[in-house]
Amino acid sequence: MSTPAPSLPGGTWPLGDLTVTRFGYGAMQLAGPWVMGPPTDREGAVAVLRTAVDLGITHIDTSEAYGPRITNELIHEALHPYPESLHIATKVGATRDEQGGWPVARRPEDLRRQVEDNLKSLRLDALDLVNLRLGNAEGPQPGSLASAFETLAELQQKGLIRHLGVSNATAEQVTEAQSIAPIVCVQNMYNLAHRQDDRLIDHLATTGVAYVPFFPLGGFTPLQSAALSAVAARLEATPMSVALAWLLRRSPNILLIAGTSSTAHLRENIAGAGVSLSAEDLTELNEISR
Ligand SMILES: NC(=O)c1ccc[n+]([C@@H]2O[C@H](COP(=O)([O-])OP(=O)(O)OC[C@H]3O[C@@H](n4cnc5c(N)ncnc54)[C@H](OP(=O)(O)O)[C@@H]3O)[C@@H](O)[C@H]2O)c1
Repeated sequence: MSTPAPSLPGGTWPLGDLTVTRFGYGAMQLAGPWVMGPPTDREGAVAVLRTAVDLGITHIDTSEAYGPRITNELIHEALHPYPESLHIATKVGATRDEQGGWPVARRPEDLRRQVEDNLKSLRLDALDLVNLRLGNAEGPQPGSLASAFETLAELQQKGLIRHLGVSNATAEQVTEAQSIAPIVCVQNMYNLAHRQDDRLIDHLATTGVAYVPFFPLGGFTPLQSAALSAVAARLEATPMSVALAWLLRRSPNILLIAGTSSTAHLRENIAGAGVSLSAEDLTELNEISR
């Protein structure tokens, strides 16, 4: 008899026909500094991925651009053959240059190659979820995504991709993508201190589309706030886990892909994200972005 997966804060969410835990894991931080090269502690990185799955996480976010190829290789090394319940989301639309930059690569031939590369490094016949990464390091930029998204929709038709999403996208680009093919998620930057997508999140919630915030803990500049620390101290939790609890509470369609290279932080984040926030806690936390 198989052991049931431990339940995680937030429960589950349907990404199309795939069920994932709302508490997922973002693998970007497993590569070397500034997401270039291998990790200094490869065994530690493999241990984080195995711990994530052992703790019941069924949604891992990655990209062939992380390392490049490093996080996909780590995921393969740590978890292949993948449990049936595990769903790996990846993204295409940018590559890496020698300086660690993220040059845009959204021509049809670039996207086809990136999908092939992800399939190869993850050793999969089809990718569960592919996000088209738009915009640039400054954030979402206006402009049509039609040619790029049509290419991904063709690859989906061919059976190489199960579900599509967009990342770093404007609300207009979300609508344009949906006019080409169904999307199951939008992955944009959002956290307690950066709430530019509040309206988009609420709109997506009404249509059953997931919103997956990247940099949920502030990314390369982790969240620091006296109000967050005060609420965390009152709840006897860590500030990072309270930031995650707030996201889970913010909207039912929010899925977490917080990153960490530490199994201790992963356990701490899971334990604390289940904390229950009172009306007073929420008022104080909602003040942070004002
Ligand atoms: N679509 C896009 O364009 C895009 C862009 C960026 C990221 N992403 C995705 O989003 C995921 C999440 O973003 P992210 O990992 O960059 O940022 P993040 O989740 O906001 O923050 C990760 C940072 O928080 C630290 N941290 C985590 N738990 C902690 C704890 N309990 N105590 C103290 N520090 C803690 C980590 O350090 P430790 O390693 O020391 O724990 C790491 O430095 C990525 O993994 C990636 O999959 C997507």
